[in-house]
Amino acid sequence: MEFYADVASLQSAMADHRRAGRSIGFCPTMGALHQGHLSLIEASRKENDITICSIYVNPTQFNDPEDLQKYPRELDRDRDMLAEAGCDGLFFPSDEMMYPKPAVMAMQFGPLENVMEGVHRAGHFNGVGLVVAKLLHLVGPTRAYFGQKDLQQFAVIRQMVEDLMFPVDLVCVPIVRESDGLAMSSRNARLSPVARKTAAQLYAFLQEAREQLLQGRSVMSVGQWVRAQLGEHRDINLEYFEIVHSHTLQSISKMNSSEPTSLCIAAWVGGVRLIDNLTV
Ligand code: PAJ
Repeated sequence: MEFYADVASLQSAMADHRRAGRSIGFCPTMGALHQGHLSLIEASRKENDITICSIYVNPTQFNDPEDLQKYPRELDRDRDMLAEAGCDGLFFPSDEMMYPKPAVMAMQFGPLENVMEGVHRAGHFNGVGLVVAKLLHLVGPTRAYFGQKDLQQFAVIRQMVEDLMFPVDLVCVPIVRESDGLAMSSRNARLSPVARKTAAQLYAFLQEAREQLLQGRSVMSVGQWVRAQLGEHRDINLEYFEIVHSHTLQSISKMNSSEPTSLCIAAWVGGVRLIDNLTV
């Protein structure tokens, strides 16, 4: 695996690959890798000649300084995992490299960010948009891989790529889960053993809600049921539960089998904020 610690070495290697006619798959991450991240690498390896991963804990997408400071950084372990997974190149830039000066422009995603994560994490998608735009410019991939775990992030990036005509195909990779259903996340490591068990209930609620919708219960009553159950829960502090169109992210009032629907949840468990979603 090649290591690129600076922009110039990355760009020259990517230009060589493009000149040689090789397709490049790109998987941007913030490190502390787990099987969810590795599933992006695996998907990219199947579809491209070269797979590049980036590890960069992007400060502009954190609205909580404590969350940024506590974000796990495990570069040595991550490098080994990527090499083992057959990744061809790793870009791990410094803050000075990605933000030689603070960015002046800002990105807004209108209705795509006036809901869910956008409401609870002010400025988050501006930071995501900025860094993903920079990374796509620097790498110049044929395809870029993102996880369905961050459904709203995918919708925002799809919009940016469409609006700004980035010459890249986006691929959304399914959520990888622990054996009890908890969606894999770098934040799970912060859960105590008790909170870790409680956290698995989020997926159980999503599954139960999906079951009820498929059995014909109304969108409104399923929403109310989940909110009531979790509102009373001793160990789960619900931030939101929404039943939305999977692309526009707007709440729906009725199931429509020809439109993709997602159940989205965010909740605090044992001091850790978790998100998850399930397609109906
Ligand atoms: P990060 O949280 O490290 O996630 C990197 C990629 O892995 C994202 O596309 C995310 O959706 C995907 N991912 C995380 N957990 C997953 C799981 N359990 N199953 C499948 N995919 C999973 O998302 C970011 O970093 C950043 O916002 C980034 C896009 C790198 C921009 O800074």
